[in-house]
Amino acid sequence: MSAPRIFHNLIGGEFVPAQSGKTFERRNPADTRDVVGVFADSDERDVHAAVEAAKAAFATWSKVPAPKRGEILLRAAELLQARKEQYSRDLTREMGKPLFEAGGDIVEAIGMAQYAGSEGRRMHGVTTPSELPNKFQMSIRQPIGVVGLITPWNFPMAIASWKMLPAIVCGNTVVIKPGEDASVSTYNLVQCLMEAGLPPGVVNIVTGYGPKAGQPLVEHPDVPVISFTGSTETGRLVYELGARRIKRVSLEMGGKNPLIVMPDADLDLALDGVLWAAFGTTGQRCTATSRLIVHRAVAKELVDRIVARAQSLRIGNGLDPATEMGPLVNEKQVQRVLNYIEIGKQEGATLLCGGYRLTGGDYDYGHFIAPTVFTNVTPQMRIAREEIFGPVLSVLEVDSLDEAVAVANDVAYGLSSAIYTRDINAAFRAMQALQAGIVYINAPTIGAEIHLPFGGVKATGNGHREAGPTMLDVFSEWKSVYIDYSGALQRAQIDNAD
Ligand code: UN1
Repeated sequence: MSAPRIFHNLIGGEFVPAQSGKTFERRNPADTRDVVGVFADSDERDVHAAVEAAKAAFATWSKVPAPKRGEILLRAAELLQARKEQYSRDLTREMGKPLFEAGGDIVEAIGMAQYAGSEGRRMHGVTTPSELPNKFQMSIRQPIGVVGLITPWNFPMAIASWKMLPAIVCGNTVVIKPGEDASVSTYNLVQCLMEAGLPPGVVNIVTGYGPKAGQPLVEHPDVPVISFTGSTETGRLVYELGARRIKRVSLEMGGKNPLIVMPDADLDLALDGVLWAAFGTTGQRCTATSRLIVHRAVAKELVDRIVARAQSLRIGNGLDPATEMGPLVNEKQVQRVLNYIEIGKQEGATLLCGGYRLTGGDYDYGHFIAPTVFTNVTPQMRIAREEIFGPVLSVLEVDSLDEAVAVANDVAYGLSSAIYTRDINAAFRAMQALQAGIVYINAPTIGAEIHLPFGGVKATGNGHREAGPTMLDVFSEWKSVYIDYSGALQRAQIDNAD
């Protein structure tokens, strides 16, 4: 075990302890004997100092030509690539997902650094013809100011990059509060940016807990934009606090993602897809498959095979290359998931496998739950409606495509969705009808790539999309400009009226 590292806040390019002097500790969720790091337990004084630093940096950073800002991101992409292995280990150690998945987290950040870096040379605006002669018009994107980011622990490098990199390429400056369970990856990302030439104060890191460090950031009068990823419960609070201050708030929240399997599907493919999407990241993805909606004709065969494979998954410390599923992030999540398993049993669903905590040997030092599958789940049960965020799959049987889509849509959330079928008409009908920001055809609900918009409908989001060509929208302000070079007073709408 390596010695715990000390992480201070990063404010104006300096690493400084919390003004209170308080700290908190993070332990490896697979082995709580391993202290990953000691972090500043920040409060509003630290947040205010970080916002001041970001405000000061905005004056110069916003004037750096966008292609030059982008070049820093492109250099950072190379540094991330060179350090991928080390950063993957840091990420596994802090939040538990196996090394191969942690590598995917870093790859998303590399891709985002390349994509957002290239935006520095596009950052397209709009020009349109005027209604009037000798008049030119365009709309340009401008930076907004200090952006507040609140990021989750489940994709600690990827999601930090989805928010931070578009924000800074647009010319904003940033204060980020990473999830308290996985802050190291944010430091790794920002380290690469600093070495790539990011000036001090453009990105500031304040670690700590939501109520003490997150809320003052959301409430700060000099932070006009907040981007949040996390639970719907916290997102609602962030939205309310932001609304009172007329802030721009971008929310990416929960999911209860359905994966539909029709009787003509390639069942081998569907089987692999369900296992990966339900139990990958120990089910702790907002895109995880938590509902299998399967046609009755193939339900028994598919579910039997899922159970057999789920029972043989190798569960353990993600640092072991043989591990297929890691621990849950913390004890609170273990209790939450166990509680949902009890609810499922009480509601009358049939527990086919898992449903318990793994104990004995090294398991006693971690937060492990066996992959769990419930059948005989009905759409009204809580385990079919509420986000569990753990390795729990609820199986619902249906008799038709229409019923499958109706069941899929009958929840509050709408992030990701999937259908397995060989019938192209069924695939297209489902694609149109599924209420979700993301639809997969013959692929599982997870694995979104950064060059398409990411986000969801209904209680999952509030209309914004991260990544993709939409990535600049949250972080830039449109300014429309009219230039009349006729030398006369021309009156739009009036002078052209018939
Ligand atoms: C999340 O769980 O919040 O599509 C993000 C995926 C990943 C991102 C998940 N690329 O599953």
